[in-house]
Formats: sequence, structure tokens, C-alpha cells
Amino acid sequence: MRLRNRVALVTGAVGAIGGAVAKAFAQEGAALCLADRAGTGGIAAEVAALGGRVIEAALDVTRRAEIDAAVAATLAAFGRLDILVNVAGIVSMGPAATLAETEWDRVLDINLKGSFLCCQAVIPAMRAQRYGRIVNLGSIIGKNGGNPRPWIDPAEQTRASNVAYGASKAGVHAMTFFLARELAADGITVNAVAPGPIATAMTTDFPAALAAMIPVGRMGRAEEVAEAVLFLAAETAGFINGEVLDVNGGMWAD
Ligand SMILES: NC(=O)c1ccc[n+]([C@@H]2O[C@H](COP(=O)([O-])OP(=O)(O)OC[C@H]3O[C@@H](n4cnc5c(N)ncnc54)[C@H](O)[C@@H]3O)[C@@H](O)[C@H]2O)c1
Repeated sequence: MRLRNRVALVTGAVGAIGGAVAKAFAQEGAALCLADRAGTGGIAAEVAALGGRVIEAALDVTRRAEIDAAVAATLAAFGRLDILVNVAGIVSMGPAATLAETEWDRVLDINLKGSFLCCQAVIPAMRAQRYGRIVNLGSIIGKNGGNPRPWIDPAEQTRASNVAYGASKAGVHAMTFFLARELAADGITVNAVAPGPIATAMTTDFPAALAAMIPVGRMGRAEEVAEAVLFLAAETAGFINGEVLDVNGGMWAD
């Protein structure tokens, strides 16, 4: 029970990776606030069935007041807040040459600013406890310039390129480094997990030619990302701070 007596707020909890994190955390003894844009009924019920203590919060990560309300509800229900996992995110495909400015703003707002606002919102409670674990969801795309190879197959650029997404996730990585330094003295660690292609709704159209570039020979599973998040969220990871942990089957190494 690596998270016994710990309380976690997980955004994007309705999604594949958020749901896997929620279940993994519940199995390790954490109490949970599961947050997503609409209700989190299905996953909350699954967590409760595992014996987990759970509350739900409907929030948009771009809206500070809704995030603050979820943090307040978590503290009211469980008396503390030990772990934040920023999973909420969106993807957006297409060539950089024609990307709409509004789409750039939408992706950066949710993926980067949304994660930042959630981090800000939990700092006071974690500081007061002198303990905290923040795990952000980055991406291989924030490191590798994108997976498509338009010089080999121009169709890949349309189906799999996502410059706004990559820039937002590179921002998440940089934000992780800054917060890790700023908060370390308060007993709070800040790390990120950078998945490669994971078989979820987000990657339904991922081209087979690109999947074939993954050295382990398959796409990843949400549960494998959750395992990395769990590792960083545990008390035992206290000397790991400002790390971006790759979970990508060997597709990118740095
Ligand atoms: N699937 C992959 O291959 C992959 C790879 C690298 C990184 N990631 C990252 O992992 C995270 C989860 O991905 P997933 O595959 O589970 O995606 P998903 O689409 O299954 O889940 C994302 C969740 O975020 C929620 N969400 C979106 N916008 C929101 C907002 N404004 N406020 C609150 N919630 C919002 C959605 O409702 C959804 O439940 C994302 O941050 C994604 O960028 C995914």
C-alpha cells in the first residue's frame, strides 16, 4: 500500500490514463478527488468498488475558480491533499503551416496553463503540510519534434503532427523543472511522465507506420503510464525531483 493515508487529486480522470491512475492509486490506498470536465461517474464507481474513498469534481482546468473549488472540496472531505496528478489534456492534429491561431491558443490553454493553474492551487495546502507530490503528464512530443516523417510520407503530417501539442508539453516539462526547484524546500517534489504513443482515444488514428517505429513493437498501455505516475507519487520517490520520466518503449531516448 504505497499511498496509504495519502490524498490525491487527479484531473482528466475520465480519460484512459487518468482512469488508470485513479484505479492504481485506489489499489495503493489513496483517497481520491477525481476531476474532469463533466461528471466522473463511471470511474468514480469503479474506484469505490475497489474500496477506495472517492469524491468527484466537475472542473475545467482553464478555470481557476473551479479548480479552487475542487481543492477546497478535497480538503473538506479528507483533511489534506498530498498528491496532484495533472492528466487533463487535449490533442490537435495537422500541419503547422495551416494551424489556426485559435487552435494554438486552445491547446496551450488547456495543456499548459491548465496544468499550471492546478499546480498553483495545491501549493498552499502542500506547503502547510510540508509534503507534496505533483506529477504532470508531458509527452514524447514535447521532446522529439513530433513523430511524422513528411519527407517519407506527407500523409503522416496531417494524421500525426501536432506542433501546438508538442509546444504545450515542452512547456509542461519546463514548468516541472521550475516548480521542482521552487517547492523542494517545502517537502514538495514535482516531476513529469512523458509517454510515447499509448493506445487510447487520443491515438486512434496513429499511423501504423509510426507505431512500427516503437522498439518494443507495440503501443503503450494506460496502466503502464499509471505505474510510472505511481512510482513518482509515492513517498519513497522523495529524492527524485524535476525529472521527466520517459514511458515510450524506447521510441525516444534522452
Ligand atoms: N494517449 C497518448 O498516447 C498520450 C501520449 C503522451 C501524453 N499523453 C497525455 O496524457 C494525458 C491523458 O491522455 P489520454 O490518452 O488518457 O487522453 P483522454 O482523451 O482519454 O483523456 C483526457 C481527459 O482530459 C479531460 N479534459 C480535457 N480537457 C479538459 C479540461 N479543459 N478540463 C478538465 N478536463 C479536461 C477529458 O475530458 C478527458 O477525460 C493527456 O495530458 C495527454 O496529453 C497521452
